[in-house]
Amino acid sequence: MTNRLDAVVSSIVEGVRNALREHDVTFEEYRKGFKFMMDVAEAKELPLLMDLFLNTTIVEIQNRQAQGSPSDLEGPYFRSDVPLVTDKIKTMPEFGGTPLVLRGHVKDTDGNPVEGATIFVWSSTPDGKYSGFHDNIPVDYYRGKLLSGAGGAYSVESTVPVPYQIKNNGPTGALLEAMGRHSWRPAHVHYKIRKDGYKDLTTQAYFEGGEWVGDDCCEGKLTDDFVIAETVEDGKHVMDIDFVIERAA
Ligand code: BEZ
Ligand code: FE
Repeated sequence: MTNRLDAVVSSIVEGVRNALREHDVTFEEYRKGFKFMMDVAEAKELPLLMDLFLNTTIVEIQNRQAQGSPSDLEGPYFRSDVPLVTDKIKTMPEFGGTPLVLRGHVKDTDGNPVEGATIFVWSSTPDGKYSGFHDNIPVDYYRGKLLSGAGGAYSVESTVPVPYQIKNNGPTGALLEAMGRHSWRPAHVHYKIRKDGYKDLTTQAYFEGGEWVGDDCCEGKLTDDFVIAETVEDGKHVMDIDFVIERAA
């Protein structure tokens, strides 16, 4: 029997060795490299570093076999302990923000509606923060879970999120800067759809023409499926998305 762990780890090590050879990396640079890794561990930024460089690759592998909608990064800001919402997600009047209606349907891979699916929704405040993580914004704001109803339909109102910079005041941000890269993500809405008997679908949607959509520091957008042309109805922006979820094996 092949040892999968040995196969994967050996390939990773060989890939790193080849990169060192390709660039004639010196002992001094190698020392700087592991000092960087120690700084990342000390700053507890390993999850951020993995999200930045590797999470999308795992999503890409997952999407190769998916029959449902494409997945995208979960990122570090998912919370499951959120209120059930019906028509509106709580937002803070002092932040202002443009109303955004998130609506559409949940279907299965045969096109049949899926009722009673839980749809977790989370997005940034109008100033680029995440509730439950930043500035003591309570977790029941700017996020919630809703249920798909008759015909698999869902609809809830929040506010339009904005592009934001991932944490950039530690070693990960310093690395990006030294590499001449930026730390911006485009404005996006996160979704996680859960229903017994189906695989979880974790994905994100972006705004067509939005800043950084084609230049996300996390290289989050793998397909254009959820780059949404916003429409405006009665002064409210609308993001209309049908999600296809796949039966669990
Ligand atoms: C996010 O989408 O919220 C995110 C993803 C990766 C790193 C940091 C933030
Ligand atoms: Fe995000």
